[in-house]
Amino acid sequence: MIDRLNHIAIAVPDLEAAAGQYRDVLGARVSEPQDLPQHGVTVIFVELPNTKIELLHPLGDDSPVAGFLERNATGGIHHVCYEVDDIIAARDHLAAKGARVLGDGEPRIGAHGKPVLFLHPKDFCGTLVELEQA
Ligand code: CO
Repeated sequence: MIDRLNHIAIAVPDLEAAAGQYRDVLGARVSEPQDLPQHGVTVIFVELPNTKIELLHPLGDDSPVAGFLERNATGGIHHVCYEVDDIIAARDHLAAKGARVLGDGEPRIGAHGKPVLFLHPKDFCGTLVELEQA
């Protein structure tokens, strides 16, 4: 069911420092910071030949990454995102298998303008999983 790895999201306490590490130490191409207020994050995209890394920093008062950074002060991997062809079919398949979809189970429009869902980390090896309709 899952297809390409779309991105790995890393929550970081200092966005400019993280971008500098990826740009200057690892030699990657990094974007300018982009505020995504509807998602409660500022993001920098690291473009790799086969996928993306998204450096996430909290934006606003109820950011979904603020609590994560309280528990992981140096930052860490926040979620992985896999592409699916049909997000409703994927959701229904997962529900039939007993996997928990977060929220009300209805896809939201994600950071790339495409429908996404998040799956409970306890069902997937302790990792928050995002599904994005490709
Ligand atoms: Co994501």
